[in-house]
Amino acid sequence: MITVRVPAKVNVQLGVGGLRADGFHDLANVFFAVALGDEVTASAGAPGEGVTLTCTGPDAAVVPLDGSNLAARAARLLAARHGMADPDVRLHIAKAIPVAGGMAGGSADGAAALVACDALWQLATPVATLLELAAELGSDVPFALLGGVALGRGRGEILDPLPVTGTFHWVFAVADGGLSTPAVFRECDRLREEAGTGSGDTDVATPDADPALLAALADGDAVALAGALANDLQSAALSLRPSLAATLRAGTEAGALGALVSGSGPTCAFLAKDAEAAAAVADALRASGTCRTAHATHGPVPGATVLP
Ligand code: C5P
Repeated sequence: MITVRVPAKVNVQLGVGGLRADGFHDLANVFFAVALGDEVTASAGAPGEGVTLTCTGPDAAVVPLDGSNLAARAARLLAARHGMADPDVRLHIAKAIPVAGGMAGGSADGAAALVACDALWQLATPVATLLELAAELGSDVPFALLGGVALGRGRGEILDPLPVTGTFHWVFAVADGGLSTPAVFRECDRLREEAGTGSGDTDVATPDADPALLAALADGDAVALAGALANDLQSAALSLRPSLAATLRAGTEAGALGALVSGSGPTCAFLAKDAEAAAAVADALRASGTCRTAHATHGPVPGATVLP
């Protein structure tokens, strides 16, 4: 039996380019891995049982437990790469990452399942191959393998680790219900069309990482990072879920240095000065009535890791 711990992510910068012919958008995506994470356990299944999935945690009821789950798809993809036809494996997800929350929780479980099955089946798959399989599973899966802080280009799967100093303290406000990532990208395109700028990849400049943001990370400067936080999907998430404006305001009024929607939302992320300030912001958010719950956490932390 193998258990893998895997982080959630927040995008400290999410620059979104135009819509490509393949339906994706080119990104300048600065991923940041946080300690709020899931644990995925893989153990041998009975012969002929196939891939089975169970899940516990506050959101367990809304996690799909069929073959579409990224953890199940990861197990089958890894097996196929090694010529194993129908793997028998039991996957259990201990879920703490909000579901459909913009924190890449499903992608994290896919990455964790790759690492867990690789260890369970003693395959010693090279990291480059795991990253390639991860990119096949989804745009955010490679980063969950890597962890830390990284710049994602292309649709987010081409990764370069970024230097970072020290620890940053975060609070995540969890909303009631999720948002669909494709729907948020579509809303971003629609808003661009409505504004008259166009939404195609010839209309929108290819985004680039913000040098001020990269310097703030490298310097461990939370105030500078707070000032540079940027998410091109935020107006689309707010358009689909206007109530998030009140959540962002509540965290800012409680003393957060900076606030933004995490990825495609609806989770909102707040950067705090230190652990104590983060705990105070989380308390204030929970009391504000503008979110379902709030978690104080920190990062960066490593990617999917086998627990001893
Ligand atoms: O890669 P993944 O399956 O996570 O992407 C889900 C959906 O999000 C895509 O089908 C697409 O609609 C949208 N997406 C996008 N551009 C990206 C990443 C995702 O438009 N770079």
